[in-house]
Amino acid sequence: MSKTSTTDASAAEKTPALEVSDSRTGKSYHLPIADGAIRASDLKQIKTSDDDFGMMSYDPAFLNTASTRSAITFIDGDKGILRYRGYPIEQLAERATFLEVAYLLRKGELPTQQEYDKWVHDITYHTYVHENIRQFLGGFRYDAHPMSMLCSSVAALSSFYPQARQIENPDQRYVSVIRLLAKVPTLAAFSLRHVRGLPIVYPDNDLSYTENFLSMVFRMSEPKYHASPVFKRALEILLILHADHEQNASTNAVRAIGSTQVDPFSAIAGGLAALFGPLHGGANEQVLRMIEEIGHRKNIPAFVDEVKAGKGKLMGFGHRVYKNYDPRAKIVKQLCYDVFEVTGMDKDLEIALELEQIALKDEYFIQRKLYPNVDFYTGLIYRAMGFPTEYFTVLFAIARTAGWLAQWEELLLDKEQKIARPRQIYTGHDERAYTSQLKRK
Ligand code: ACO
Repeated sequence: MSKTSTTDASAAEKTPALEVSDSRTGKSYHLPIADGAIRASDLKQIKTSDDDFGMMSYDPAFLNTASTRSAITFIDGDKGILRYRGYPIEQLAERATFLEVAYLLRKGELPTQQEYDKWVHDITYHTYVHENIRQFLGGFRYDAHPMSMLCSSVAALSSFYPQARQIENPDQRYVSVIRLLAKVPTLAAFSLRHVRGLPIVYPDNDLSYTENFLSMVFRMSEPKYHASPVFKRALEILLILHADHEQNASTNAVRAIGSTQVDPFSAIAGGLAALFGPLHGGANEQVLRMIEEIGHRKNIPAFVDEVKAGKGKLMGFGHRVYKNYDPRAKIVKQLCYDVFEVTGMDKDLEIALELEQIALKDEYFIQRKLYPNVDFYTGLIYRAMGFPTEYFTVLFAIARTAGWLAQWEELLLDKEQKIARPRQIYTGHDERAYTSQLKRK
């Protein structure tokens, strides 16, 4: 923790600092500023008496608190910029593969051909899951949500790899990362086959990451599955776009759980649970339900009026960070046209396009800087490719596993990090004596 004092003028000249005066005591403090932030723990010295715990910052929902230093993903929400390790998302989406991006997120640099081949080889040869896991998935009800199945089965994997608890061992960390990247698509595909009542399709390790996944989901009686090149590329792009998004709700969950030094399977299961929520990964599912509810272009104005009157939200609009067009939404909108060229135009896409236009011109949305986010169009693409609505978050989760793992390892290697433990402002009763309301027997 940095020392501050009321008198050390030379220190104040050298280091930029926030000068704070406390009207309760008349004392003033200078709090060093680094990277545009003060350390919240520096506030602790601001006290009214020796037995005062010291000043805290109060920030429900982390609206203005940096929980970490991170070199993985950069976002400038006002300018609509998203970069992984410095590379613009637009360039990665156009030219990279998802596994290349997963490598980049973890290692910080793009792989050489040799590094890439080993990475892909290792992931490919860990795609199978233990047969007991397959049976475990068979125990779910026919109408189970595939996100619940994925979340539970990833948590269950922790019990299959007890050595994954050796998180301080880089070799164990590597194999856990490989296992998670390899097995999450397998578990995701098995979950969907289960709810559809279809026999599971085992991984085909001759295929690429995306094509193997499509094969496990869609293959029927054909001896070898060959995905449509447009679908294959669309899935690759969608996985790249969703691979990381710095400190959002689910990444924060992974980091908070990871900070307890639990194994990565358990930490990623926590991220999956957070992603399941309708305000986070569940939004693309909600967008489609909303469009289906609107039903026809003529109903859009009435629907928008209801949103403005506070009766629900325009799902797929707004973002905690982007107060400008989400750069991923632009790429996804173009992708929509590519996919619909293959599958044929859809009335729901027409509703979405018109809804977007109406909202972008409406004062309510302009004033609040509400623009389409990545989820506004992804659901339409996924559905056109044949994925059911309740599966969209699972697709998001496959992608985000890459980001969560990079963030988890960054946390473990960060000397400043400890177990995550927020403080609170207690608002309950003062001490009171226990008087039972129950009848004693
Ligand atoms: N439709 C209508 N009004 C909205 C919407 C929306 N989608 N989003 C925000 N607003 C309004 C709020 O009601 C609020 O209005 P007020 O100032 O009159 O009270 C104002 O805009 C500011 O909104 P906040 O809730 O403060 O924004 P916040 O940053 O907390 O929320 C969030 C961001 C959760 C994404 C929100 O915009 C939302 O719920 N959007 C719809 C769900 C969605 O699409 N989520 C996906 C996010 S992207 C992702 O997770 C991958």
